[in-house]
Amino acid sequence: MRTFRIPDQVARLAVLFAVAVVALVVVRHIFVPKSFGKLGHYRAAAVDEIASQSVRYAGMQTCVECHTEEAEKKSSSFHRGLACEVCHGPASEHASDPEAKKPFVPRERGACLYCHNYLPSRPTGFPQILEKLHNPMKPCPTCHNPHDPTPPHVPGTCSACHASIARIKAISHHDSLECETCHEASPQHRQDPRSALPKKPTNREFCGKCHAQNAPSAKEIRRIDLATHGGRYLCWQCHYPHYPEGR
Ligand code: HEC
Ligand code: HEC
Ligand code: HEC
Ligand code: HEC
Ligand code: HEC
Ligand code: HEC
Ligand code: HEC
Ligand code: HEC
Repeated sequence: MRTFRIPDQVARLAVLFAVAVVALVVVRHIFVPKSFGKLGHYRAAAVDEIASQSVRYAGMQTCVECHTEEAEKKSSSFHRGLACEVCHGPASEHASDPEAKKPFVPRERGACLYCHNYLPSRPTGFPQILEKLHNPMKPCPTCHNPHDPTPPHVPGTCSACHASIARIKAISHHDSLECETCHEASPQHRQDPRSALPKKPTNREFCGKCHAQNAPSAKEIRRIDLATHGGRYLCWQCHYPHYPEGR
């Protein structure tokens, strides 16, 4: 009769397994804090520890009570979405005793660059500058009031911001056309671009105003048969409107 024998390799594994279980129990006993698991999958004592920390941020409502001037300026500016303590740091001690404790005042360029230095990952259109080129050496508040940072003068032309489009149009057949011929733009677009986007042409007839066979435009403008040319596609699916190529 053959006796049943546990294979060697299984025996060795069983020993390892037993050691692991014992180690786990020991480690758990030594290292897992006593209050772990009492209220859920975390250390219950942490609740009291965190609650006992002193409050460092006062919140914007508190600042507004005493600093109405700064708050009013900021409320209608580009910085309306920023809380005071984003720039001035935690200031609850100051709020409860203004004379004794002064908050941090970020006069260095670095404080603004944290949000405004060029980074490709920022959202399209977010106002950015190149630190080295944008009025170097001077602190930002010299020219921008931090509570209402509107640039000192509003750019006058479309090319101030859309330089590459303006430059390519200037060497194209559409050089004689103003941007506004095709884009109705309110003055507000130049002040706060994304709050008032200009209109863009939406149909073939728009280009037909100058290029259709019977359009009342200047004789030398090239004509196409609006009904058939390019099929039913929009003109700018084939012609880049800022540099249209024909023949
Ligand atoms: C109870 C009224 C009060 C509250 C609340 C208050 N402040 Fe002030 N704060 C003052 C006074 C008064 C001064 C002027 C002190 C001086 O010039 O001697 C001052 C000065 C300042 C200064 C200028 C410091 C300097 O060095 O010139 C800053 C910045 C400031 N407060 C930010 C804040 C912020 C941010 C908050 C909200 C977290 C806040 N304050 C809340 C009363 C207040
Ligand atoms: C974008 C960052 C920023 C935000 C947001 C901001 N501040 Fe300031 N604040 C500054 C800077 C920078 C200065 C220093 C200005 C200077 O030196 O001319 C300053 C100066 C001050 C001063 C001192 C004024 C003086 O003439 O010395 C007070 C008071 C103040 N801020 C309060 C506030 C309050 C209240 C809020 C929120 C309603 C706020 N700030 C939001 C950046 C900021
Ligand atoms: C916490 C981030 C943050 C900090 C710090 C900050 N800003 Fe801004 N800034 C913004 C936001 C958000 C806007 C609004 C962008 C928009 O309207 O699309 C803005 C807008 C501006 C604009 C308007 C640009 C335009 O569109 O014409 C200027 C100028 C400006 N900030 C200057 C400053 C200066 C100077 C400082 C330092 C005192 C500063 N910012 C600090 C977030 C910040
Ligand atoms: C010598 C004055 C001066 C100083 C100093 C200055 N700026 Fe400006 N800033 C301007 C002017 C003028 C404009 C508007 C015209 C332009 O775009 O150059 C402007 C525009 C901006 C814009 C808007 C750009 C856009 O695309 O709409 C931002 C953001 C800005 N500045 C941030 C800063 C920051 C941050 C600092 C400090 C590191 C700073 N500025 C220092 C004068 C200044
Ligand atoms: C102060 C800078 C600035 C000036 C000046 C400016 N723009 Fe813009 N414009 C912008 C920015 C920033 C955007 C992009 C907004 C975005 O992508 O969210 C934009 C977007 C546009 C768009 C695209 C709109 C869309 O729906 O995609 C058109 C068209 C346009 N601008 C035309 C013009 C014309 C025409 C002028 C001159 C009358 C002009 N812009 C002047 C900053 C400017
Ligand atoms: C002949 C008409 C015409 C002229 C002139 C014109 N555009 Fe456009 N533009 C268009 C059309 C059409 C589109 C839409 C393209 C699309 O939807 O893909 C457009 C799109 C844009 C856009 C959106 C981004 C892009 O490149 O598609 C901007 C920004 C813009 N134009 C700015 C300008 C500026 C600034 C000028 C003057 C320097 C100008 N345009 C002149 C017809 C024109
Ligand atoms: C499917 C692509 C396509 C579309 C859509 C299209 N075009 Fe064209 N277009 C061309 C090509 C390719 C040429 C050059 C070859 C030719 O003359 O047919 C051209 C040439 C032209 C010319 C020059 C004609 C000449 O006599 O030299 C004009 C003007 C023109 N297109 C305007 C338009 C207008 C306006 C629209 C919208 C109504 C439009 N195109 C839509 C492809 C297109
Ligand atoms: C206000 C009148 C006007 C409008 C609107 C207009 N164009 Fe033009 N276009 C011209 C003029 C002027 C020329 C230069 C003369 C020429 O070559 O026909 C031209 C030239 C062209 C050419 C010919 C380029 C070549 O090689 O000869 C094309 C293609 C063209 N435009 C496409 C368009 C498209 C696409 C649109 C609509 C987004 C458009 N145009 C809107 C006036 C206009």
